[in-house]
Amino acid sequence: MSEGIKVGDAVITLPDGTTASFPLLKGTEGPAVIDIRALYQKLGVFTLDPGFTSTSSCVSSITYIDGDQGELWYRGYRIQDLANSCSFLEVCYLLMYGELPTGEQLDHFESAVKSEMCIHEKLIEFYRSFQQGAHPMAIMVGVVGALSAFLDEKKNYDDPVEREKASIKLVAKFPMLAAIAYRTAYGLPVVYPKRKFSYIKNFLYMMFHDPMNEDFDVDPVIVEAMEKIFILHADHEQNASTSTVRIAGSSLANPFACIAAGIASLWGPMHGGANEAVLNMLDEVKKRGAVDEYLTRAKDKNDSVRLMGFGHRVYKNFDPRSVIMGEIAHRVLETLNSHELELFQLAIEMEKKALADEYFIKRKLYPNVDFYSGVVLEAIGIPRDMFTVIFALSRTIGWISQWSEMMADPVKKIGRPRQLYVGEKCRQIPHARDRLSRTISPALTQRTRNVWSPVKKSIHHHVHKLHVV
Ligand code: CMC
Repeated sequence: MSEGIKVGDAVITLPDGTTASFPLLKGTEGPAVIDIRALYQKLGVFTLDPGFTSTSSCVSSITYIDGDQGELWYRGYRIQDLANSCSFLEVCYLLMYGELPTGEQLDHFESAVKSEMCIHEKLIEFYRSFQQGAHPMAIMVGVVGALSAFLDEKKNYDDPVEREKASIKLVAKFPMLAAIAYRTAYGLPVVYPKRKFSYIKNFLYMMFHDPMNEDFDVDPVIVEAMEKIFILHADHEQNASTSTVRIAGSSLANPFACIAAGIASLWGPMHGGANEAVLNMLDEVKKRGAVDEYLTRAKDKNDSVRLMGFGHRVYKNFDPRSVIMGEIAHRVLETLNSHELELFQLAIEMEKKALADEYFIKRKLYPNVDFYSGVVLEAIGIPRDMFTVIFALSRTIGWISQWSEMMADPVKKIGRPRQLYVGEKCRQIPHARDRLSRTISPALTQRTRNVWSPVKKSIHHHVHKLHVV
C-alpha cells in the first residue's frame, strides 16, 4: 500500500538550535502528515500527544472522515449512498476486499458466511457459566476471546487466505454469539440460525424467536432499519476500539483475541456505550421533566454529567450517520406507533435547545450516531444492555478489515508509544521501619478495613464463646 506522496519537508528546530527535516506526506484526502518516525534518531526527542489528538497511528485505505464537512466514506463511497443502496453484507464485502461485489461474488460471499454461522457446542456450554443478569458485553468480551480456543489452531496470518477465512468466520458467527449473550443474560434458550433467512433476519430470529411458535415474522421496516444501523456502524477509521484491535494485533496476537480487546474498548460510555447512556439520560430527563436543568448540568465543569450522544473527536459540523439515524427513527417509530415516540420527541427537543446554546455552538458539539440509535433499538424491542453489543456486531467487519490491512503490511511494527516520565528518580530502598508513613491509597485502606472488620468481629465472637464455655 502507498504511504502517500511526499509534498515537501517540515523542519523542526530545537531551542539549542539543532535542526532536522522530516517528510511531509499527503494522502488522497485530508491534512498532510509529518512523518516523524526518525524524530528520536535525528533529534533525540519524542512527541507528546495523549488521546492521539494530532497523531496518525497508521496508513490506511479503508475509511475516511472529513469532520468539518460531515463526510464519511467506506473505500471512497459516501455513507449515505451505501446506506440507501446496499445490504450490510455488500458493505462487509466492500470493507474486506476494497470493491463492491458483483452478483456472483455476493452469492459466493453470502454462502461462505452462511456455512460458518454455527458455533461449537462447547462454546455454548461456556455461556452457561455466566449468571443470569450478567451484562451481555461482559459475556461478549469472554466468549469472543474464547473463540481463539476453538478456531485459532496456530494459523499463519501472514497468509491472506487465513486472514480472509478468519474474517468470514467472525462476520458469520458474531450474530449468533451476540444473540446467545442476550438469551443467556435473560435466561432464554438458545435459538440456532436458519439457512433461509438473510443475515439481518437471522440475527433478529436468534434474538426474538419464541420456541413455542413455529413461525417467525418480522416487519420489513425493522429489518431495513437494522440493515442501515449495521451499515452506519460498520467502520469509523482509527477510533478507540479499532486502535485497540490494531495495537493488540501488532503483537501478532490471534484475530479473535484482538476483536475481544476491541469489544472491551467499545464498551465505555464515551465510545460505544453512549447509546445505552443516551436512553438512561432521556429517561431521567423525562421523569424530572427538566430538559433545561439537564443541559445546565452538562455544561457545568464541576458536574460529571455530559449530554450523551453529543460531540465527537472528529466531526465538528455534523455526523452524517446521525442524520440517517434520525430518518430511520422517524420511520420506525411511526410504523410501530411506539411509545418510544415520547422519548424521541424529547431527544428532538434536547437537540434543538443544545444546538441553539452558546456552550455547544462554541465547542462544535453536535448529535452523533448514538443520539438517536438507542431510541430506535428500544422501539424495536432490543433491551438497553444489548445496544452496545449490536454496535460491536456491526463494527466487527471494520475491526477485522483494519486488522487484516495491518497484517498485510510486510513491515510489522509492534505498537509501543513512548511517554514523558515525571516520576521519582533512582531511589534507595529504605528499611521497612525507616519508611515514612503516608496515606497512599484511601481506597486500599478502606478496603482492608471492610475486609477485616467482619473477620475481626467473628474472631471476637468465637473467642468470647470459647471463654464462656
Ligand atoms: N456534553 C457536554 N460537554 C461536552 C460534551 C458533551 N457531550 N462533549 C464534549 N464536551 C465539552 C468538554 O467538556 C470540553 O469542554 P472544555 O473545552 O470547556 O473543556 C470540550 O467539549 C471538548 O471535549 P473533549 O472531551 O475534550 O472532546 P473529545 O474529542 O476528547 O471527546 C467525546 C469526544 C465523544 C468523547 C465527547 O464529546 C463525549 O464525551 N461525548 C458524550 C459521549 C458520546 O456521545 N460518545 C459517543 C461518541 S460517537 C460513537 C462512537 O463513534 O464511539
